[in-house]
Amino acid sequence: MRFNLYWITIKYINEEGEFALKLPQLRIDRLLPRYPIVQGGMAVRVSTAPLAAAVASAGGIGVIGATGMGTDELRAEIKQARRLSSGIIGVNIMFAVRNFATLARTAMEEKIDVIFTGAGFSRDIFGWGKETGTPIVTIVSSGKLAAIAEKCGAAAVVAEGTEAGGHLGTQRSISDIMMEIRKAVKIPVIAAGGIIDGFGVARMLKMGADGVQMATRFVLSKECSVAESFKQMYLRAMPGDVVLVESPVGMQGRALRNTFVEKLLGGCQPEPERCEKCLKECSKKYCIIQALENSRTGRVEDGLVFCGQNVFKVKEILSVREIFRRILAEVDSVT
Ligand SMILES: Cc1cc2nc3c(=O)[nH]c(=O)nc-3n(C[C@H](O)[C@H](O)[C@H](O)COP(=O)(O)O)c2cc1C
Repeated sequence: MRFNLYWITIKYINEEGEFALKLPQLRIDRLLPRYPIVQGGMAVRVSTAPLAAAVASAGGIGVIGATGMGTDELRAEIKQARRLSSGIIGVNIMFAVRNFATLARTAMEEKIDVIFTGAGFSRDIFGWGKETGTPIVTIVSSGKLAAIAEKCGAAAVVAEGTEAGGHLGTQRSISDIMMEIRKAVKIPVIAAGGIIDGFGVARMLKMGADGVQMATRFVLSKECSVAESFKQMYLRAMPGDVVLVESPVGMQGRALRNTFVEKLLGGCQPEPERCEKCLKECSKKYCIIQALENSRTGRVEDGLVFCGQNVFKVKEILSVREIFRRILAEVDSVT
């Protein structure tokens, strides 16, 4: 088992002065972010260029959620993120979408720094990554899949526990799978699921993670472009509002209880109005893309509001810069 071999001392400055902080150096192939913090990709335009660019500029890895986009839109998003930041920009593509290969190829043509992929497993993408020099990071929930990803050529894995938002690959907690995955591979392991502050980050680093991936915390940022009512639902959330729902993808998803979810749990969800056959496999019980698009654009009662398990603990909308500042100060206070 390899335990963060490379720790570096980082100087960071805030209003109270200059601090020295010891953090592991996250290395994804040739990429060396200043801080080992990845913003999780969020489908159907929840994480777009402004958020990804802000995270990249703050010293993390900013990720555009490509799922639900067409190739022209993805190209435009990558170009915009590049205009806004010279930091590290990645894209996240769910294997479950029919245009997975064309989205991956497009991102590689645009010379994206890194591709994150989950919700199914693509072996082909490692070959394309090798051809174009694009590191591939696979999202996994077990040591077994992590080892397969490493053998196929993954540059790192994201270990995603059941506390995560969006589609879930496991019912096991991040603490549970973290040790198993850490033992199974030598490549960097990035912990995800339920991490909303620096205390959570520090806990994962102590468990051997080389970095963390956070999504829910970044939805409540000024730079995240979802509708204000989407953010307000997050801010109002109580622990009992966070529920698991069946997704037509064939996986469970974590979302906030609302009118749409009540209908879904009662078996009377709206049938798809039209179908663009966007998923490789779809139960067609409802249109997941439409449900996510409704909530993102402000029709929050008519759609799915995906979120992580700890959403109710985040009580402020902050700039990405301030989120980073607080995380670093919190890590510093416990290390
Ligand atoms: C609104 C939302 C959309 C998401 N969409 C995706 C996605 O498209 N692809 C993916 O791999 N993960 C997706 N996720 C999971 C995140 O990238 C991340 O790994 C996870 O939410 C981490 O847990 P946290 O939200 O508690 O920080 C999504 C999460 C949220 C909250």
